[in-house]
Amino acid sequence: MPGQSQTSSPLDIPAIRAEFPLLERKVHDKQLVYLDNSATTPKPRAVIDAVDSHYTQGTANVHRAAHALSVEATEAFETARQDIGDFINASSSNEIIFTRSATEAINLVANAWGPMGLSSGDEILVTEMEHHANIVPWQLLRDRLGIELQVAPMDDRGMLDMAALRDLISNRTKLVSATWISNALGTVNPIEEIISLAKQAGATTLVDATQALPHRSVDVKALDADFIVFSGHKMYGPTGIGCLWGRESLLEAMPPWQGGGDMIDKVTFSETTWNKLPWKFEAGTPHIAGAIGLGAAVNWLRNLTMDSIATHEHSLVESLAAMLEAIPRVNLIGHPVPRAAAVSFMVDGLHPHDVGTMLDRHGVAVRTGHHCAQPTMQHFDVPATVRASVGVFNDDSDIKALDVALRRVIEVFG
Ligand code: ALA
Repeated sequence: MPGQSQTSSPLDIPAIRAEFPLLERKVHDKQLVYLDNSATTPKPRAVIDAVDSHYTQGTANVHRAAHALSVEATEAFETARQDIGDFINASSSNEIIFTRSATEAINLVANAWGPMGLSSGDEILVTEMEHHANIVPWQLLRDRLGIELQVAPMDDRGMLDMAALRDLISNRTKLVSATWISNALGTVNPIEEIISLAKQAGATTLVDATQALPHRSVDVKALDADFIVFSGHKMYGPTGIGCLWGRESLLEAMPPWQGGGDMIDKVTFSETTWNKLPWKFEAGTPHIAGAIGLGAAVNWLRNLTMDSIATHEHSLVESLAAMLEAIPRVNLIGHPVPRAAAVSFMVDGLHPHDVGTMLDRHGVAVRTGHHCAQPTMQHFDVPATVRASVGVFNDDSDIKALDVALRRVIEVFG
């Protein structure tokens, strides 16, 4: 499809925008300009319809009854699992565990794999730019197991110091858990190299791919990590649904982490045996509509092709960063190369929260705060930043709208 709003885009952005009802909204009487995709993405009609149809036409529990609605719901739920597995090139849908979020997926690994894979004195290596979700579960585990948490530093461009990371990996390193793309800075880490270094040392690997899945193609076989986590609502799917992809042999060896319905095979008061994968890790009624919605989201993304999305967003985020740098008194936080989706910045003399609130008055939605990455803020010695982040439906008009609104904010309040 030829691009219409951007000469450089391989996608028909006006047609894509028309699929998002949210983008028709006005905020403070201004047309909404949505640049907060790293926090959560708006939902295309295909996802809204899939969720709506489950609730209006297909509500039933899964794996539990013989009636037609339950059979249909089970089929839709398991088809979604298969579609999500295909989207990331999983070997089997047994490797896709539905969770509440990427955060819950990391907690699952910490609780089910942690005590099995780690003992006192072992080390876990994370990076300085992690989201709290990839820090705090390991701290909780450290306190339980007497393990050490090591941190690979980044430089002032917001890029990992790979020499330091290499030096920190030793035969004590039993897990390397790293983000692929920083939610706060937009840094794209050399994840293949990190995985390869970890594997050479015999460490298990976990990739937080939450910010990668909406922006680029992900092939778990090629990546060759042990665990990958991601979140539905940041990739055009519903909130409350996320996934753990795990290497099947590893998932088989892990004990369950939560007990309840569906994760069991046989229960007596003296003993309980576990269900097969993937259900061993899915206690209780799952988020059925969420999984179906996420299945619709990956099919919607696949239809656009991830390579086209990456090409479109690459030029967009580069022009976003260039636009911001050209505004007097605006300072970018981090200058990572390559960068994906997000740009963090400060305005001299204005608090990020005030900038965000004033941009909102112009209809421009950006995120302000520490972005659940306080150590990243500490590195740059700032309490918070303003962060603009693009999605597939954004185009030059959104960048222009932020440019105009931000210049006006600085003129009036600066
Ligand atoms: N972690 C999400 C963000 O980056 C909420 O905004």
